[in-house]
Amino acid sequence: MGVPRLITSCSFMPSGPRAAAPRRDDEPVRLHSAEFAADPHRAYRELREKYGSFVPVEISDGVRATLVVGYRDALQILTDEARFPAEPAGHGDRHTAYADCLARVDLFALRRAVEQIAVPLINRFCRTGEAELLGDYAIPLTVGVVDIMLGLSPLDGEAAHTATSQLRDAQDATTAERAERRLTATFADTLAAKREQPEGDLISRLMDSSPDLDDAELIRRITTLYLAATEPTWNLIANTLLLMTTDDGFRGGLLGGVLTVRDAVEEVLFTDPPLANHCPRYPRQPQIIGETFLPEQQPVLIGLAACNNDPAVTGDRTGNRSHLAWGAGPRACPAVPVATMIAHEALELLLDAIPELRRAVPIEEIGWRPGAPHRALAALPVTFPPCAPL
Ligand code: HEM
Repeated sequence: MGVPRLITSCSFMPSGPRAAAPRRDDEPVRLHSAEFAADPHRAYRELREKYGSFVPVEISDGVRATLVVGYRDALQILTDEARFPAEPAGHGDRHTAYADCLARVDLFALRRAVEQIAVPLINRFCRTGEAELLGDYAIPLTVGVVDIMLGLSPLDGEAAHTATSQLRDAQDATTAERAERRLTATFADTLAAKREQPEGDLISRLMDSSPDLDDAELIRRITTLYLAATEPTWNLIANTLLLMTTDDGFRGGLLGGVLTVRDAVEEVLFTDPPLANHCPRYPRQPQIIGETFLPEQQPVLIGLAACNNDPAVTGDRTGNRSHLAWGAGPRACPAVPVATMIAHEALELLLDAIPELRRAVPIEEIGWRPGAPHRALAALPVTFPPCAPL
């Protein structure tokens, strides 16, 4: 199976159902397999024992990379842009443009947008006593808020979400390429509309801040922004809800007011971050770290989940935010205040309306979607005592 262009050129590859055949012992570890998604934490432990910090992996069919599972080595790579640049040669620097535009997002307006979208979603299921919180809440809420932030029209927002879902569900390269073309065409329409009538949204600002860029590069930047903003955020919301409905300590702590939603989000960012294997870096020249040889330009991925749980650095985490969930160094996520605001607000609104959420199925029946970068639930069914609408 080939690898679609968008998927290779954009590091925010969607999680997907493309399960793979079991590996043989001499093959790299297949991070995109269903087998890996079922229990990645056991795999990280075993791989660390077998390989040390650097693990040979495959991130999609035929695409090899090195996965870094040691915290200190990861930090060294993430903070050394000279030796480990974030983009293959020739892609140019996009980070500053993103960071400048994202720094100007009005967080008060964003909070209002979250509420405006969350309330009708909650009202749709609060009286029924059951919901599937990924599909009924985390996804539509995140997508709605991101559409507003980016300034997508309802039509383009719907088209972008449909195309991304098709990309995520694609079983073969042809379907994925078709979905990718739809996404590109949608953002081309958006860009044309913004050129006619710019507004105060993120896409207009991106356009404004880089007047020399051609449409193709702007569309690539909008695509990265859209993918970066959506799936990790809804997975953070869903994975935190899973923790809250699984860990009795957290449930009780939240209900008793001893723990806050912020504590639960931080716990997930440490133990099971939504971007689990990400931050691709491309060694400028062949590199040797310790006894490991890293070939020139072959992607090095950071195992953010594995590094956060590296026994060499985990100890008492009270008040400690040293996890790598947002990356680290000059390329770390430029949207931390935005992403945390969306997640905190979404969770607080839901828990205020429905404090007694319970998982509807045993933890063993909760499924995870395969896909190297994302730690993505397949669904999160819950039950609760029916509540009055907000
Ligand atoms: C829980 C949600 C999120 C998590 C865990 C997360 C995490 C990350 C990580 C690990 C990176 C890669 C950094 C690197 O390569 O070193 C990244 C990059 C990025 N993130 Fe986030 N992010 C989240 C939400 C968002 C949101 C809501 C936005 C936008 C509104 C956003 C925009 C971006 C962009 C544009 C980049 C790429 C920057 C570049 O190309 O240099 N992220 N994010």
